[in-house]
Amino acid sequence: MDYMIGIDLGTSSTKTVLFDRNGHAIRSATRFYPMSQPRNGWAEQDPEDWWKAAKETVREVLRDAGISPADVRGVGLSGQMHGLVALDAQDRVLRPSILWCDQRTAAECEQLTRSVGAARLVEITANPALTGFTASKILWMRNHEPELFAKVRRILLPKDYLRLRLTGEYATDVSDASGMQLVDVARREFSAEMLGHLGVEPSWLGHLYESCEVSGRISDAAARETGLAAGTPVAAGAGDQAAGAVGNGIVREGLVSSTIGTSGVVFAHLDRMAVDPGGRVHTFCHAVPGAWHVMGVTQAAGLSLQWFRDHFCEPEKAEAERQGIDPYILMDREAEGVPLGADGLLYLPYLMGERTPHLDPNCRGVFFGISARHGRPEFVRAVMEGVGYSLMDCMDLLRGMGVPVSEVRASGGGGKSVLWRGMQADMFDTGVATLVSSEGPALGAAILGGVAGGMFPDVRTACDATVAVKSRQQPDPAAHEAYRTRHALYRGLYASLKDDFRRLSELA
Ligand code: XUL
Repeated sequence: MDYMIGIDLGTSSTKTVLFDRNGHAIRSATRFYPMSQPRNGWAEQDPEDWWKAAKETVREVLRDAGISPADVRGVGLSGQMHGLVALDAQDRVLRPSILWCDQRTAAECEQLTRSVGAARLVEITANPALTGFTASKILWMRNHEPELFAKVRRILLPKDYLRLRLTGEYATDVSDASGMQLVDVARREFSAEMLGHLGVEPSWLGHLYESCEVSGRISDAAARETGLAAGTPVAAGAGDQAAGAVGNGIVREGLVSSTIGTSGVVFAHLDRMAVDPGGRVHTFCHAVPGAWHVMGVTQAAGLSLQWFRDHFCEPEKAEAERQGIDPYILMDREAEGVPLGADGLLYLPYLMGERTPHLDPNCRGVFFGISARHGRPEFVRAVMEGVGYSLMDCMDLLRGMGVPVSEVRASGGGGKSVLWRGMQADMFDTGVATLVSSEGPALGAAILGGVAGGMFPDVRTACDATVAVKSRQQPDPAAHEAYRTRHALYRGLYASLKDDFRRLSELA
């Protein structure tokens, strides 16, 4: 029997899944680790925690599955994007990794934009300077920790640090590297011009591969620590969004995924590169050789509902515990009993500022139109609809760029809700499908490992063999019109409040 392993290094945990060649998950293991926030808006992690989680979970799935490690044809890596891992000449981690959600680099983004030029930055990297991306984090380290920066000899992304520990190789892949903002995204190679502006030596960066290429092999040392067979190929892998898209089969034009996790992402495959000149959606290389992807990001999607559950849904939580079910199931039922429009209650999901379409770190959440009639059910429905309107913003931008949309595939925790999926079908005016496997990034990583290990000739063939649609929900045209009208009001609210959000942030 042939197997493939996907290791997904997430922000809260690392998950390793062993799959057979049909994409069926045989065994899965997860280890959680902390994120430290030493100051407001900062977010850091210890790369040693990632390695510990990865080796323990690999060991666990191999042991529990009881298979021969020699039957694992390939390993693939998926990881939280953008994080800065800086190593010295002895491969020692110089400081905790500065993560994708860290917001300390606003001044460095301005510095980078001034030095490269706003238009040139988009021309090379396909995106404006954003606090999340790695380039501004490198500049921050250079500006604020010059003694440490002088010792830097290697710069890696989170999953590429795992690769170093697994194989001894310094390497990355085009999809994840696009989010460093050091890559010429059209040419799929590091940009000497960008490196020059940042003071980064080319020798600090790993070899840049397409995602399904072999980047190295499990070393003897890693074989002892993980239980994998020495010599097992490790694919270059992908950033978590591109890997998740591969796991959802988003490898052809027309297919789009909508993922409601902590954040929300609308992701489309592109055969030809397309860029939003306003930078409101990100354009990166895809994990499919010769393809790109474009994605819009809602910062607080599932997070909005989680926040509401944690602070206002004690009765639902108690009842769910009594029934032995997830509180979200009860919240879903309550929202289902409220008609479209949440009885005039609108929610703006900007709990963490917003990326698409506003690129505004200062905006914050709003409930608009509260009346004495409203109770928790209306609020839950308004939160779900508000997140939907934000995803609709992402979808509208993609369509405005000429991206074809024939089918949307729902995934993430929010994709489990029939109500939320139905809202998305109505809002997007497109059928929304669910998939048999919900392993997203881990499956995508494993598929890349399987291609690298010779189980499949290419990524598309691998997806055809492993990704299958389970169900489809069709849009209701009347509901679409009703949501469109409310979406216009939702858009207007941000426009009216934009300056007030800034004033509020100055007060805070
Ligand atoms: C993508 C992004 C997130 C992180 C963490 O731009 O910031 O998807 O990769 O999941």
